Amino acid sequence: MDSTDNKMQGKKRPPVCDYEGSDYQTRFWERGGRGYEDRCEAIALKRLLPKNGKLMLELGAGAGRNTVRYKGFERVVLLDYSRTQLKQAQERLGNSKRYIYVAADIYRLPFVNKLFDATTMIRTLHHMADAPVALEQVRNVLQPGAVFILEYANKRNLKAILRYALRHQTWSPFDLDPVEFAPLNFDFHPRAVHNWLRDLGFRIEKILAVSHFRVSVIKRTIPTSVLAGLDSLLQWTGALWQFTPSVFIKARAEGESKYSIPDDHRLFFKCPECGHSPLADQDDRIACPACNRSWKILNGIYDFRGDES
Ligand SMILES: C[S@@+](CC[C@H](N)C(=O)[O-])C[C@H]1O[C@@H](n2cnc3c(N)ncnc32)[C@H](O)[C@@H]1O
Repeated sequence: MDSTDNKMQGKKRPPVCDYEGSDYQTRFWERGGRGYEDRCEAIALKRLLPKNGKLMLELGAGAGRNTVRYKGFERVVLLDYSRTQLKQAQERLGNSKRYIYVAADIYRLPFVNKLFDATTMIRTLHHMADAPVALEQVRNVLQPGAVFILEYANKRNLKAILRYALRHQTWSPFDLDPVEFAPLNFDFHPRAVHNWLRDLGFRIEKILAVSHFRVSVIKRTIPTSVLAGLDSLLQWTGALWQFTPSVFIKARAEGESKYSIPDDHRLFFKCPECGHSPLADQDDRIACPACNRSWKILNGIYDFRGDES
């Protein structure tokens, strides 16, 4: 069993915002007029991603919209709670050995500690009812020195400040508590997120303020390329202040890495229930020899959701 045990083991987990069966990718991204946001995120990611690396974990990977951007990494593990999102990612990326698909809950990651040399979590923290616990799970599976690129939804954005000043909004954008603006959708105060990261032993290296012009009328009247260009110039102001709806952080887990990454991806896994590793491969299942639970491997997706046995 891993020495740093998962604090969530045996505890009731926070609820999951379930995207199973959702048409999120087509409705929100392809038909939802989000070309500007997608371009801004691509620019931010390019600025923050390491040029190369061995093993990337993408948390809340969804349909793999960003996965194609992790070009310098030898292997990428796509993790999402929703099997149908992962299936869409498979259709986009194919079944190359470079990609490993895992259906699991971020609050109960099925990976051995200190495994990955990089991870991203984009548009996903905003579904975490207990963000510090989720971030702790992330920290556990990162090697010392690993890079963590985190995007979060910023409650202290200009629109929220204006609405609050005009009394169109009851919650204050300035207090540190997350605000749940829709069920299981949270905006966070930058200082709260930065404090959680530091408390977990991350060093914040860069902060980018992203999507300055996320206003429908502006997006409709000014060409996307012009807006994305302006956003690109302004993203660096994130080092000084953060008033945009989206913030990207590059953080690094403290310490120097001395861990090697196994070639066999089955050695990545630990039992999400009891923490035992290695797990045993049994054709279409993967099993824990310590507690006898097992999980399905279906169409190339390891499914660690639920408490199967
Ligand atoms: C808004 S989508 C973002 C997808 C992708 N990162 C992107 O930017 O296109 C959020 C994703 O997080 C996943 N998710 C939400 N809560 C989760 C949890 N507790 N564990 C794993 N995935 C989760 C959802 O299934 C969904 O695919």
